[in-house]
Amino acid sequence: MRKLNVLAASSAMSLVAGALIAGAAAAEPQVEVLHWWTSGGEAKSVAVLQQEFSERGGTWTDMPVAGGGGDAAMTALRARVLSGNAPTAVQLKGPAIQEWYEEGVLSDISDVAEAQGWAGVLPEAIAAHMKCDGAWCAAPVNVHRVDWIWANAKVLEDAGIEMPTTWDEFNAAAEKLQGMGVVPLAHGGQAWQDATLFEVVVLSLGGPEFYRSALVDLDPEALKSDQMKAVFEQMRTLRGFVDDNFSGREWNLATAMVINGEAGFQIMGDWAKGEFVAAGKTPGEDFLCASAPGAGFLYNVDSFAMFEVSGDDKIAGQKLLAELIMGPTFQETFNLNKGSIPARTDVSLEKFDSCAATSSQEMAQSAEGGSLLPSYAHGMALRGAQAGAITDVVTAHFNSEMSADEAVQMLADAVANSM
Ligand code: GAL
Repeated sequence: MRKLNVLAASSAMSLVAGALIAGAAAAEPQVEVLHWWTSGGEAKSVAVLQQEFSERGGTWTDMPVAGGGGDAAMTALRARVLSGNAPTAVQLKGPAIQEWYEEGVLSDISDVAEAQGWAGVLPEAIAAHMKCDGAWCAAPVNVHRVDWIWANAKVLEDAGIEMPTTWDEFNAAAEKLQGMGVVPLAHGGQAWQDATLFEVVVLSLGGPEFYRSALVDLDPEALKSDQMKAVFEQMRTLRGFVDDNFSGREWNLATAMVINGEAGFQIMGDWAKGEFVAAGKTPGEDFLCASAPGAGFLYNVDSFAMFEVSGDDKIAGQKLLAELIMGPTFQETFNLNKGSIPARTDVSLEKFDSCAATSSQEMAQSAEGGSLLPSYAHGMALRGAQAGAITDVVTAHFNSEMSADEAVQMLADAVANSM
């Protein structure tokens, strides 16, 4: 599938969408883009889109809101929409897209999607996230995988440690590093990072069915189960592998600890690879990637939604942006920088590294085996209220002496109260 000639596809695409934009408005495209891509790798990635936009005659007003995971960006978005001044385009994903659509503030971008044939080049699961009541209401840029373990290759080699393939191996490796004075696990104490660790442990320790029952279907039995207690116990163990200064640290600074050898491991989505790559590091040589133990694949698809605005220049800007986002050359360049793989299935992965190849293969296998699962921590699985309720408990447990018994009870209660 991923074999199409990128250049040929891209120029055909530009012709179609170019005509579309010319038809829609002769105005100069304007766009104000709200996003949270402010780390080194992220800024490099979004710059590709800015450049393509201005090469096509558009004016881009950047509205970056720092804060990994996008919580601060989403707060800024709400304030802008409430004051009647929505940005033209917003980094938005998962069920939040449909939540905003239900508020009546999103534009329909079906004309661009149909002209470019999005339905034919996106996996069904991804396309479904981009639709609201049958209309296209968001454009996907990538597929990030969340369930990864990253490691500094030299640190592991010096310690005589192999990349762990089970949690027992991970714990043993971490203890060994701790004994050598190396921080075993680089982590930032922010709620979304705690949630990221947690969902990886839920999938990895409990398996895909358990993940689905607990974090997608919110089955009370799964939330209170012995399996969930074991997850919280592993979270307690991981808490012991974090350094004293972890509180409030941004994720990219945690990645920097692995890059410079201060820490051995980080458990984080593959936007972390964007940081390794921006620092000039090579997978397999300077750093290692391995999917977390066990089966399954936790996906996190970044996308942009267009908010209802008036003015031909802004509408032309939204159409041009949607077209560029789904352009095959953009999807290649952007994702090489970002650490993710293209959302389009027809973009060749020839230029991508071994971590991306693993991601693509395991994504296809997981889709077949029913274990391709949406990330709850990155807003792909649940609506805001339920995801928030879970994260509050995960963070409260991680930052206290709470027992696993108390945590599962609190989890089940918090979820029930959020419905
Ligand atoms: C994720 C987002 C990624 C990356 C990460 C850290 O939620 O999907 O693209 O930006 O947060 O900010």
